[in-house]
Amino acid sequence: MKLQDQLALNKKEGKALLATNFYNFETLSAVLTAAKETNSALILQLSESSLHYMGLEVAAQMAKSAISQYGVQAWLHMDHGGDVNLVKACLDAGFDSVMIDASEKPFAENVKITQEIVRYAEQFGANVEAELGYIAKLGQGQDMIYTQPDEARRFVEETGINALAVAVGSAHGFYKETPKLQLDLIAEINAATSAALVLHGSSGIPHDQVQESIRRGITKINLATEIKNIFMKKLQEVLADSDEIDLRKVFPKATQAATDLVSEKLKVINFS
Ligand code: 13P
Ligand code: ZN
Ligand code: NA
Repeated sequence: MKLQDQLALNKKEGKALLATNFYNFETLSAVLTAAKETNSALILQLSESSLHYMGLEVAAQMAKSAISQYGVQAWLHMDHGGDVNLVKACLDAGFDSVMIDASEKPFAENVKITQEIVRYAEQFGANVEAELGYIAKLGQGQDMIYTQPDEARRFVEETGINALAVAVGSAHGFYKETPKLQLDLIAEINAATSAALVLHGSSGIPHDQVQESIRRGITKINLATEIKNIFMKKLQEVLADSDEIDLRKVFPKATQAATDLVSEKLKVINFS
């Protein structure tokens, strides 16, 4: 099933997919193992920095080969695309889905840039996600701008996007204080638009709030920081008391820690 059809179905049924960022072979293998073990579908996401790190072709081909090798239902998505040419290159390379993120631009400009990507994605039948409002990055002194239901409806109608990233109280990275999602706002935006709603910044959000956000209309949950964090913390711990140089003996311990984390998240998200 195409991702946009799955997300539309999720919207109808009050279900959500987990979307996990990956950074290298180990984290890719970690999330796919978790999906396989819990019998879950999921979305694999690549940010612009990960695409630059691995190279678009290697990253995309590795993800696609791994999906096939692990026998998991998964879609490949580009996360927070800011460079229009790179977003188009991802579509050319066969991504199932892209996010064009012009959320820091004024409304009309965000609409125009998003429309251009929607038009380009049509020839591939790919899913398009865009952001309205602003989901802050923690630790960078940024303010959140909440998504307004009325603007969201106009934005979705004018752009024709399938998925909308909403600013409803979550933020990227770890929180200093426990976040409080605007659950009523999620329900209002969900009722106002035909798009499937995406929750960014899910690292650090209490699981009961994640589940309640799904009940209110969130259909895709983005998780990144917690995966990076647990992988690196475990790696540091293993390396601290070992001088093993066979990386194939060291990395799997960190990979396993990331798998355990993602398995738990998949159980939280697939509760319904
Ligand atoms: P976190 O890093 O807070 O999990 O956010 C992930 C995200 O929104 C990726 O787009
Ligand atoms: Zn995000
Ligand atoms: Na977060």
